[in-house]
Amino acid sequence: MESYLLAAASLFILCLAQTCYGDVLFSTLPQTLVVSASPMDGQVLKVGEDSIRVTWGLNQSFPEGTDAPYNEVKLKLCYAPISQEDRGWRKTVDNLSKDRTCQFTISHRTYTRITHNLTWIIESDVPTAVYFVRAYAYNSSGNEVAYGQTTDTKKSTNLFKVQAISGRHLSVDIASICFSAFALLSAVGFFLVERRGKNAAKN
Ligand SMILES: *[C@@H]1O[C@H](CO)[C@@H](O)[C@H](O)[C@H]1NC(C)=O
Ligand SMILES: *[C@@H]1O[C@H](CO)[C@@H](O)[C@H](O)[C@H]1NC(C)=O
Ligand SMILES: *[C@@H]1O[C@H](CO)[C@@H](O)[C@H](O)[C@H]1NC(C)=O
Ligand SMILES: *[C@@H]1O[C@H](CO)[C@@H](O)[C@H](O)[C@H]1NC(C)=O
Repeated sequence: MESYLLAAASLFILCLAQTCYGDVLFSTLPQTLVVSASPMDGQVLKVGEDSIRVTWGLNQSFPEGTDAPYNEVKLKLCYAPISQEDRGWRKTVDNLSKDRTCQFTISHRTYTRITHNLTWIIESDVPTAVYFVRAYAYNSSGNEVAYGQTTDTKKSTNLFKVQAISGRHLSVDIASICFSAFALLSAVGFFLVERRGKNAAKN
């Protein structure tokens, strides 16, 4: 019980810390991480089937101690400008607490200096869009302190497309919609039959 409370309290404090100090500007972050991802420029990948191999690490040309404050690292899937047009909910804002560029977390882990890689199967909640991968390093108070990304600063190179719903998924969706409609109709049907029964009994 006590440990639950403790966990809840630390979570609360952590969230508080995130919101209180969550006002880092992206433009102030140094690009010290080197990030690469397996998709080729322009490649189309399918949700739930295709995977991305992401490799990340510290750019060794930065001086010793650069990464001393790095505590955690998050790899994120981010919208390319072409998939942000006319979509306020994906907008890029320099203030990272308001930025909506990178909405999907590929991995969140403790930072270590060595170069890592992982394979991530694109999760099914990722919508069809053009993406790149970005890594953020966080310090012990949960603030972004550095980044790295697979594209250039203009976010125009090395972009890949994710295709959300394949035929198989679509048919599953249609089946579930049909099933829901059927369930609703049966419920209405039972209700009507029951009511008619009650009315008949009353008369
Ligand atoms: C960033 O946005 C947050 C939340 O609205 C705000 O509290 C903070 O002052 C902003 N920071 C900067 C540097 O604009
Ligand atoms: C590492 O950083 C240096 C200096 O900022 C930069 O010139 C170089 O392109 C970076 N290397 C990679 C692989 O990004
Ligand atoms: C990925 O990491 C594994 C160890 O976790 C290593 O053996 C392998 O060579 C790495 N692959 C690449 C492409 O960096
Ligand atoms: C983490 O980074 C933020 C923003 O740069 C800074 O204000 C804060 O003091 C740092 N926290 C620690 C523990 O260094």
